[in-house]
Amino acid sequence: MLDTRISRRAMLMGAGAAAAWLASPARALLQAVGKVQVPAFVDPLISRMTLEEKAGQLSLMASAWGGGAALSLNPPGNGSDFEQQVKEAREGLLTGVFNGNGARMARMLQSAAVNQSRMKIPLIFAADIIHGHRTIFPVPLAEVASFEPDLARRTAEAAAFEASGAGIDWTFSPMVDVARDQRWGRGVEGGGEDVLMGRLFAAARVHGFQGTDLGSTEHMLACIKHFAAYGAAESGLDYNVVDISERRLREVYLQPYKAGFDAGALSAMASFNEINGVPSTGNHWLQTDLLRGEWGFQGFVVSDYTGDEEMITAGYAKDGRDAAKLAFLAGVDMSMQSGLYRQHLPDLVRSGEVPQALVDTSVRRVLALKAMLGLFDDPFRRIDEKRETARSLLPKTRALAREAGRKAIVLLKNDGDLLPLPRSGKKLALIGPFAEGAHDLVGPWVVYGDDAKAVDLATGIRAALASPKSLVVAQGSGVEQPLSGGIAKAVAAAKQADVVLLAIGESANMSGEAQSRTEIVIPASQQKLAEAVAATGKPVVVILKHGRAFALEGAVANAPAILATWFLGTETGNAIADVLFGAYSPSGRLPASFPRRSGQEPYYYAHKPTGRPNPPGELQPYKAHFRGIPNSALYPFGHGLTYGKIDYSSLALGAPSMPMNGSLQVAATITNRGTRAAEEVVQLYIHDRVASITQPVRELKAFRKIALAPGQSQVVRFTVTAADLAFYGLADKPVVEPGTFDLWVAPSAEAEGLHGSFELVA
Ligand code: BGC
Repeated sequence: MLDTRISRRAMLMGAGAAAAWLASPARALLQAVGKVQVPAFVDPLISRMTLEEKAGQLSLMASAWGGGAALSLNPPGNGSDFEQQVKEAREGLLTGVFNGNGARMARMLQSAAVNQSRMKIPLIFAADIIHGHRTIFPVPLAEVASFEPDLARRTAEAAAFEASGAGIDWTFSPMVDVARDQRWGRGVEGGGEDVLMGRLFAAARVHGFQGTDLGSTEHMLACIKHFAAYGAAESGLDYNVVDISERRLREVYLQPYKAGFDAGALSAMASFNEINGVPSTGNHWLQTDLLRGEWGFQGFVVSDYTGDEEMITAGYAKDGRDAAKLAFLAGVDMSMQSGLYRQHLPDLVRSGEVPQALVDTSVRRVLALKAMLGLFDDPFRRIDEKRETARSLLPKTRALAREAGRKAIVLLKNDGDLLPLPRSGKKLALIGPFAEGAHDLVGPWVVYGDDAKAVDLATGIRAALASPKSLVVAQGSGVEQPLSGGIAKAVAAAKQADVVLLAIGESANMSGEAQSRTEIVIPASQQKLAEAVAATGKPVVVILKHGRAFALEGAVANAPAILATWFLGTETGNAIADVLFGAYSPSGRLPASFPRRSGQEPYYYAHKPTGRPNPPGELQPYKAHFRGIPNSALYPFGHGLTYGKIDYSSLALGAPSMPMNGSLQVAATITNRGTRAAEEVVQLYIHDRVASITQPVRELKAFRKIALAPGQSQVVRFTVTAADLAFYGLADKPVVEPGTFDLWVAPSAEAEGLHGSFELVA
């Protein structure tokens, strides 16, 4: 079962389409999208190419346009001079560039390639379109909080619409690395800690970026990254090694990549990390045996930024020549940024170390994809200066950003129903480094978005208030440094107010690539601010800014209301105001568990029981817990409150047992006993009590997002089949074993909800 059906209303909103797709018979048909068609002209073209030109088709470089995005995002490497890059295009030494500077730049380079090079092969233009192009949507992790894969499909589609209008053919997205250690900064780009969510959002994003026709000028090629297990970096340190069993690799980390390829993604990016001693970029088992052999992937694989060259420092390759050979023979078709392929592949072929036929195969893949993108028909099809402006930041795209923003917000706590706030009649103090100003709005991994075009929190709140004058703003603190006199001013502002809104957390550059943190806490200067503000005794609503789950402490954890608001992008202030004042009843659920302390990391809900779990309640000696801290989350995966009062009752299983080839019906009644409309995410978890391989305490198998008016009840139904109960067995194959299974229909991964059990009989 992949039962993520949704309410009729949610269906009308389009939610869950990607989820349904994964389970549907249409899947087989759509998989045709994952097939590469090689046009008849490609092989004759390859036969006329020199080895240097072939290596050129396998060499991708950061755009060298002066002051361009590529140069500021990544350290300048080879070919950092634009004139030189145009010359390379003319000489056929370049397959394309990434993170360039829009249609004008692309036109200059493309003209050189198609008008002045010998083979006239068009360039491909790539970019990190991670969560939007000019209109920036919530960071990918935040979007998962919506529990609406179709929302991610729609934002990816909108991003493709804007970006393809600006000349971009290929996005380095989606990033689908499962991230179970919140110290790792790049969790912000992915699908969170859960396997099912990782799969659903990977597939949805691929559908959004690619559409059904790669040749469309409103879509672009997706790239599944980082293959593989980049998110399993030891101790959450970015770029660190991964030492992992094949079982865990297959059951957890590989799943979202596979879902992305099944959804039709036709490119992949090799990851920086090694797996069990072999760098992914040089890993033949991974890039060829598994990816192409077992999974049937037909697209091409690109290295990550200088990933091939980094095998030298990692102690796997002797020198650049060796690195190029190892990466290429492993199955990495294209080299990003090191220039090693164009430097060494021709000679490696001449010396017989690399078979010419393999090079031809890689070139064929790349040219076939360029053809599928329509570049041979019209190399300028996505390069259009007018369209670039005309498609940028359209009202309908901004409206989607606002919808995505409010659906990504998670209400962690709401003691005494402090939220929603009235629009008038109360004085509000908005305090904190993220209260106002054009900074930290679009968030990490944004190449073309602009904070200045985004709505900050103060602006969003003022627009929602009956009288903007009822809001006072005080910065209080810097992000990581105190602000002289800041706390005194903030306390004075709090004292004048009825309610304090405390906007604290991480800046954009504290999560993302290379931003691992040892302590996943609110920075000290802001924690001090929070304590001082709380000491005024005024009710505090904490509004968190973050790219990861936090360990909340002290006055922040104790505040009566807490909202997880991530980096929401262009419509940040409006989306948060919608939730604060009740225009939208929060429906987001955590895609990653908030631990009690940093030291619990990696903490994830689907952990194994161990032989000595601490029973619920008091901490017991010689049980699995930390000193003074239970091994549970402060706010677990799946947690999120609404403005309704949701009640779970009447769990009914169709039968006490289920045969291997049968199914089990599960039903539960969900009621809104509150006075406000709400959307509830009803989650189904299963645990296999006894198995030949120990099983996680719970695993999410399905969910439904339902809308409930005040007083309304709805019976939510799920269907369990044996496929939901499979695991990777001792014989390295999926198995299903008879026995007793626990089942919960619950509002989060650690809430008791409704608990039942059933027997699976052989
Ligand atoms: C990142 C990739 C990204 C590439 C190109 C690398 O540093 O790991 O995710 O796509 O740069 O910008």
